[in-house]
Amino acid sequence: MVYACIRCGATEDLDRLLYTCPSCGGLLRVRDENFEALRDRGGDEWRRVFDLRRAVGVEALQGIFCFHELVLPHVPLEDVVYLGEGHTPLVRANPELADWVGAEFFVKNDGQNPSASFKDRGMASAISFLNHYLRTRRPGTVLGICASTGDTSAAAALYLSYLPKAAVRSAVLLPRGRVTPQQLSQPLGSGARVIEVPGVFDDCMRLVEELADRYEVFLLNSKNPVRINGQKSFAFEVAQQLGWAVEDATVAVPIGNAGNVTAILEGFWDLRRLGVTDGLPRILGVQSEHADPVARWRSTGRYEPVRVRPSVAQAAMIGNPVSFPKVRQLVEEEYRDRFTCVSVTEQEILDTMLHVNRHGHVVCTQGGEAVAGLRKALAQGLIPATGRFVCDSTSHQLKFAGFQEAYFAGTLDPEYEVEPRPELVNRPVALEASAEAVAEHLGLRPRKAGRRPNVL
Ligand SMILES: Cc1ncc(COP(=O)(O)O)c(C=O)c1O
Ligand SMILES: [Zn+2]
Repeated sequence: MVYACIRCGATEDLDRLLYTCPSCGGLLRVRDENFEALRDRGGDEWRRVFDLRRAVGVEALQGIFCFHELVLPHVPLEDVVYLGEGHTPLVRANPELADWVGAEFFVKNDGQNPSASFKDRGMASAISFLNHYLRTRRPGTVLGICASTGDTSAAAALYLSYLPKAAVRSAVLLPRGRVTPQQLSQPLGSGARVIEVPGVFDDCMRLVEELADRYEVFLLNSKNPVRINGQKSFAFEVAQQLGWAVEDATVAVPIGNAGNVTAILEGFWDLRRLGVTDGLPRILGVQSEHADPVARWRSTGRYEPVRVRPSVAQAAMIGNPVSFPKVRQLVEEEYRDRFTCVSVTEQEILDTMLHVNRHGHVVCTQGGEAVAGLRKALAQGLIPATGRFVCDSTSHQLKFAGFQEAYFAGTLDPEYEVEPRPELVNRPVALEASAEAVAEHLGLRPRKAGRRPNVL
């Protein structure tokens, strides 16, 4: 495997830590030079291999390395770090919710990963890579570092904490006051050095990029192409869960720094090239109107970074996505009209999150954003109304509980431009500890005299 520059095409060995092209500074992709040879096995054979691995419990193949050859064949299975990531469920929307959205659909709940977000996928590949690097190169102590809107640092700190303390230290940079208390508690709990700086995510990103340029660190942002390879597993799993037929499928993905959507685009493209799937699904990128450079590019044809305004989809509040050049390349060369974008209002994001969670799901604000995007794209006819639909809920509801609380309490900052809808607001009621008081509050009718009580 090699690092391949997406700008000038230069390649570099994978036995170094690299994040940008040493010749031109362009973004890197991790490429398997033997990918063509994998095609010899044929789509049928690969489907059988992946399905078999899914059924048998070999430790290193349990998570994203079920797709070892497509994720990182460079890392032998003995170096794989598995903390329970991947194989997250596709949860079918019930008929009421499907009606409301305008089509039957599934939520793929990536909040069911160990640090409760999809970031664990890429972190499992990056940390397995680092584990292999440590064993084979013995470089002394390595500092793993990342900038984060909350979830990357939670995942990085968790996975780094699994490696030997003598070999690895961890540090994360967060925009002060711009991550939720739950997300802040995660890297603290994993023992990382947590550094809060003024500004937004983009400011933290500039800082770690400078650190990675000037100092010996292991950068754990999605600019690190090894992370993208692990994140591709989302696409592999969706394809497997849909029975390896994806051409009729639309996958709605929230876009922030565009690392996740890049990985998903690449992952489905890999399966297509291997003959594992019949074609490419449609990808529906969803952004908040408060941070929508990719959606603007898609509708105007021009890309310009935007100045972000506060968004409840806080983890995707990014004005200049680092991985945008990769998205552009994949869309222009492979996906073309199978990549659609839509932007949604802050009101739509929170209302949708609350509505979806009242129907048996546990989506985060970004998951709410994905479903809101699907609903809007269907209503506006931006995508065909037939076929199967999957929404990526990138993290767990509980990470963003503060937004729900502020919505219910009516204390959301006006800059979010969200008015709570009374029918979605839910507050606890304090009652005295008596059956009569509870029954009266709930409007229960007394049981008729003489009837035997139900025993459950
Ligand atoms: C929960 C959640 N959803 C969505 C995103 C956006 O993903 P990306 O930045 O890869 O586009 C992030 C990124 O931090 C996230 O944490
Ligand atoms: Zn280059």
